[in-house]
Amino acid sequence: MARLIAGMGTSHVPGVGAAIDNGKTGEDYWKPLFKGLIPIREWHAKNVPDVNIIVFNDHATSYSLNSYATFTIGVGERYKAADEGWGPRKVPDMEGHPELAWHLVESLMAEEFDMAVVADIDLDHGFTVPLSIAYDQPAAWPAAVVPLCVNVIQHPLPTAMRCYKLGQAIGRAIASFPEEITIAIWGTGGLSHQLGGERAGVVNPDFDKAFLDNLTQNPLANAALTHTDFIRDAGCEGVEMIMWNVMRGALNNTVKEVYRFYHIPVSATAYGAIILENGA
Ligand code: DHB
Ligand code: FE
Repeated sequence: MARLIAGMGTSHVPGVGAAIDNGKTGEDYWKPLFKGLIPIREWHAKNVPDVNIIVFNDHATSYSLNSYATFTIGVGERYKAADEGWGPRKVPDMEGHPELAWHLVESLMAEEFDMAVVADIDLDHGFTVPLSIAYDQPAAWPAAVVPLCVNVIQHPLPTAMRCYKLGQAIGRAIASFPEEITIAIWGTGGLSHQLGGERAGVVNPDFDKAFLDNLTQNPLANAALTHTDFIRDAGCEGVEMIMWNVMRGALNNTVKEVYRFYHIPVSATAYGAIILENGA
């Protein structure tokens, strides 16, 4: 049977990818961030699963505002980095895992989560930046991926509780996957940030800390938050944090927090990362 070894939460700020791609990680602005990523990368080097399920959002790159499914699973063999306006990032293609992806689709549909399915989608910074955070710049990514895209762009969005429950159903689906493989799940986006409007640039360390604390100890508190709570307290794009609830829902009741990092500012965003090893 497949085994879920861990969850990671990480912001997915595009500037982090640009800093890596353009050799700027040693600059004063970026140094503290990349220093904080060292333990994350050390952990990932020692804990490479067969597959990473990466919960992300497309930023109206491959989807458009004319068409955005609530939850989409990628069942493709292979994915490319998307062109977000200045050419695709020069990162390796991402190998999919169609067998696990289709098992997730079938299992989630049977549990009444009506998933959209996509075989061919280019993946934007919401997906490629977390890979670079975990693995830096390898010639090939060390693990296959299953993309799980959540609509946090075009309202109405799924609730934070729905995301948590989806995660729980993913946990059950993993437990019933017959292959002996190891799996990790990543929630991406956040933490507090707002990119436009009067409150552009807002961040809220108190809210972010409570969210990270609850992720480990009291995930239902994060699941109970409304979109208004996120938007009021963590900025409009802070609502991306609902994707971390999918990650947490898939893990067991008890998790071990092995690393946490928080740094402001990274572009317009409070950068946060956490690694949770799955309990027995
Ligand atoms: C930024 C953060 C995001 O999550 C995003 O999708 C785009 C930009 C930022 O802080 O610049
Ligand atoms: Fe984003």
